[in-house]
Amino acid sequence: MRLRLWPRSLAARTAILLFAGLVLAQVAALGIEAIGRGGLQRLEQGRHLGLRVMELYITVAKTPPDQRGAALRELRLPAGITAQLDSAPPARLLVSPLAVQQLVRLNMALVPLPPALRPAEVVLLGSPAQEQMMIGLRLPDEPAIAERPRAEGPRAERPRAERQWLNVTAALPVPRPWQQPDLIAAFLLMTVVAAALTAWAVGRLAAPLGTLTAAADRLGEDVNAAPLPEAGPSEVTAAAAAFNRMAARLRRFVQDRTLLLAAIGHDLRTPITRLRLRAEFVADDELRAKMLADLDDLEALVTATLTFGRTATSREPAAPLDLAVLARTLLDEAADARPELAERLVYDGPEHLTVRARSTALKRALGNLVANAIAYGGNARIRLLPAETAGAPVRIEIEDDGPGLPPGETEQLFDPFRRGEESRSRETGGVGLGLTIARDILRAHGGEVTLANRGEGGARASVRLPA
Ligand SMILES: Nc1ncnc2c1ncn2[C@@H]1O[C@H](COP(=O)(O)OP(=O)(O)OP(=O)(O)O)[C@@H](O)[C@H]1O
Ligand SMILES: [Mg+2]
Repeated sequence: MRLRLWPRSLAARTAILLFAGLVLAQVAALGIEAIGRGGLQRLEQGRHLGLRVMELYITVAKTPPDQRGAALRELRLPAGITAQLDSAPPARLLVSPLAVQQLVRLNMALVPLPPALRPAEVVLLGSPAQEQMMIGLRLPDEPAIAERPRAEGPRAERPRAERQWLNVTAALPVPRPWQQPDLIAAFLLMTVVAAALTAWAVGRLAAPLGTLTAAADRLGEDVNAAPLPEAGPSEVTAAAAAFNRMAARLRRFVQDRTLLLAAIGHDLRTPITRLRLRAEFVADDELRAKMLADLDDLEALVTATLTFGRTATSREPAAPLDLAVLARTLLDEAADARPELAERLVYDGPEHLTVRARSTALKRALGNLVANAIAYGGNARIRLLPAETAGAPVRIEIEDDGPGLPPGETEQLFDPFRRGEESRSRETGGVGLGLTIARDILRAHGGEVTLANRGEGGARASVRLPA
């Protein structure tokens, strides 16, 4: 299984890129700041160490050589510094031209000293990790100038002291400025602000796309859906205006076609009526009967076409509707029309189930499906299945135990004027618009209808409607 790290949503992608860019910029800015601070810290370390070492050196150098060990032990050394008297400078482990060493040397040189007190030799060593520095200062063989007159006497008797070195070891922690709490806090704060800003900006950027998607969906279901508000930034306003212009053109197009259909249907009625009157005068009985039957067909076609035009242009508002009541009403009406079938019209479902729908239109859609079940299957069973989870659609299944649908043709049956092969004879009376109208209405409700053959024989129309 491949892990999806790169999200598909435009908003998420933009957010990730923006956020990464902002964090990178912050890291760079804070890095520059940290490097600057590190340099300053080294400078301060060098100055501090140079002065402390010289203080120590002066104190020790002023003491007579034989008392220097005791004097050093009594001194309170600053944290991180140790010192001892040796007969040699620190071992030459490594000499690196470390910038801090130069600094220490410079600061040591800055301390004014009388010539007698000046260290005869100075050795500086840095540890490999440069976290430590060793400084060796050769102490003058004589005590400090101030004490010289007093030391005149004993000096002659004292054996020549061997060379004395004051060896200082100082901790020199490598500066870690990015570990400073204020830098970490600044980074965290800037990251949170960057994340919030990114989320806000991307949300604002992506919101109009969501609105546009919803509007396009709504338009697909209902050409008369309310237009998009043309407000906000110029690009959004322009997109909304373009969308509204497209919707208006679509609406006019659909209206023109359906009005044309309705007009033709309407205008055909008068000649049909006239023809029917004239056919009555045909002397030949058989011919007259045939002519009247053809005229009946023609009239049915016109009526169905008019109905189709009316549903397409209807502006009936949606309102709460009890589907269970509607289903039972449809079956009762069918039983009234054909009492011999009353036993074979069954409702199976809850007592009540309310959805929002356009009641006349929905009744026509479900009525067409029930009429098909009765006409082609000889019975009808309406099963109502409430939504299983919140937001899931309500399902309505209309079944019959008839011969079923012509295999492989279930989708084409929804085309206008499409009829099954066996129904071509006008016995069953349809014109082939029932399923077209039903699908049109259900899709306008945001639902759908499909046809299938049942495994145990007969056909099933499955309807889904948003709860
Ligand atoms: N329950 C069913 N069983 C078998 N065939 C069906 C069933 N429902 C529909 N059909 C087939 O689908 C065709 C199209 O159905 P549709 O309802 O669109 O038109 P119609 O019933 O022929 O005419 P109309 O409903 O416009 O009066 C039907 O002619 C029929 O052959
Ligand atoms: Mg039908």
